Amino acid sequence: MKLIKNGMIATDSEVYKGDILIDCGKIVAIGADIGIEDAEVVDASGCYVLPGAVDVHTHMDLDVGFARAIDDFYDGTVAAACGGTTTIVDHMAFGPKDCSLWHQVNEYHRLADGNAVVDYGFHGVMQHPITGDRLAEISEIKEKEGISSFKVYMTYDYGLSDDELFNVLRAAKDAGIVITVHCENHGVLTQLRKEFVEQGHGEAKYHPLSRPPRVEAEAVNRMIHIAALAGDAPLYIVHLSSAEGLHEVMKARAEGRPNLGVETCTQYLILNDSLYDDPKEGLKAIMSPPLRKDSDREELWKALADGGIIDTVATDHCPFHFKSGKAEKQYGKDDFTKCPNGAPGVQERLMLLFSEGFMKGRLSLPQVVKYACSEPCRMFGMYPQKGSLEPGTDADIVIIDPEKKTVIDKDYIRGASDYSCYEGMELDGHIEKVFLRGDEIVSDGKFLGKRGDGKYLKRAASVLAK
Ligand code: URP
Ligand code: ZN
Ligand code: ZN
Repeated sequence: MKLIKNGMIATDSEVYKGDILIDCGKIVAIGADIGIEDAEVVDASGCYVLPGAVDVHTHMDLDVGFARAIDDFYDGTVAAACGGTTTIVDHMAFGPKDCSLWHQVNEYHRLADGNAVVDYGFHGVMQHPITGDRLAEISEIKEKEGISSFKVYMTYDYGLSDDELFNVLRAAKDAGIVITVHCENHGVLTQLRKEFVEQGHGEAKYHPLSRPPRVEAEAVNRMIHIAALAGDAPLYIVHLSSAEGLHEVMKARAEGRPNLGVETCTQYLILNDSLYDDPKEGLKAIMSPPLRKDSDREELWKALADGGIIDTVATDHCPFHFKSGKAEKQYGKDDFTKCPNGAPGVQERLMLLFSEGFMKGRLSLPQVVKYACSEPCRMFGMYPQKGSLEPGTDADIVIIDPEKKTVIDKDYIRGASDYSCYEGMELDGHIEKVFLRGDEIVSDGKFLGKRGDGKYLKRAASVLAK
């Protein structure tokens, strides 16, 4: 038995002083002054004790055809663990042309099983052709694999057309599945990218100009209406980045649109588009949607503080090397459209929210817990087993000392990436220890777990699909 003593326990509704007793991987008791003689005591005095964080948007080992994300399920989940994230739900890459949806389910088990060091689940992915057989597969995969969410893209090679999106949403509604969606207007961004390249504007700073906020806002608005037309089908918008996109969400909230979930990501709260000014370094931050202005960031923070608008903060973790290895980010050095999209973030997320959200007074600590831990689990059928601190649930726990600092530099990085977009930041707070189902997997920045300790999670239905 383990006893975490005298910590300030933070849930999504309160912060109070108490002890947590752990046995056989589960929390068995929480309260004041728990005394068990033979328990191993972990002193958490002066520290906050949070549920293990949950990142529901990662892309480990993502194969995008011309490049592959450099964090496999081992390196990426070591980074997650060191950053206090004990559960991920990973978005699958597209499979070969015309493959069954089972193809990627099997492929992702091959990539993750025996490698992940934190618990993990998968979001399925929809790709052409959207036939009756394929739509039938989503309920089969939900039943057999506990995959209760599927992703659709409105852009990229397998971006779906409006009729396909409508058909997927209707089928998902019938199957009790939530559809997660990357919202960008494919026609407009494709045209703008083409024009910039033709005009010889290949530098990184043209990446955000080719995907302006309205490209996102139009798609968010369209998707919300298509979901309504599909009988209020459960819809979860991923990586919301802009104030314009947010306004569409706020309009839908004001109308009381049901079954809608919304995610933003840490990069859209912390970073801005000035990172693209340097044509070389700017490649590091090429991701879609792109980074925005400070005014967008402030509106996103305000929406989080106000509550009831955005449900989760994830990362879209998808790193490629900048200088080392194959230096995949350099593919875009003369033409930003050739740069693989994505950046690391799974390790930084919880401490960025703790430091820049809670310690800087933008959010309360229960709000940090809500956006980083509990709500992602409600959205994706893992609550309260994950994302909570309640007797009977998994003992996934993070201990944070608010008096210490975390410096994001090369030594901090635990994933395979050779950079962090947050490099140079000094954060208020430091992760002392991380527990996964009661086992101490991180102590003072040192990873203590082992390859394959992460368990696959068969998920229940989303709150959006009930
Ligand atoms: O740039 C990004 N976000 N790459 C990963 C794939 C996606 O769009 O989520
Ligand atoms: Zn996306
Ligand atoms: Zn993504």
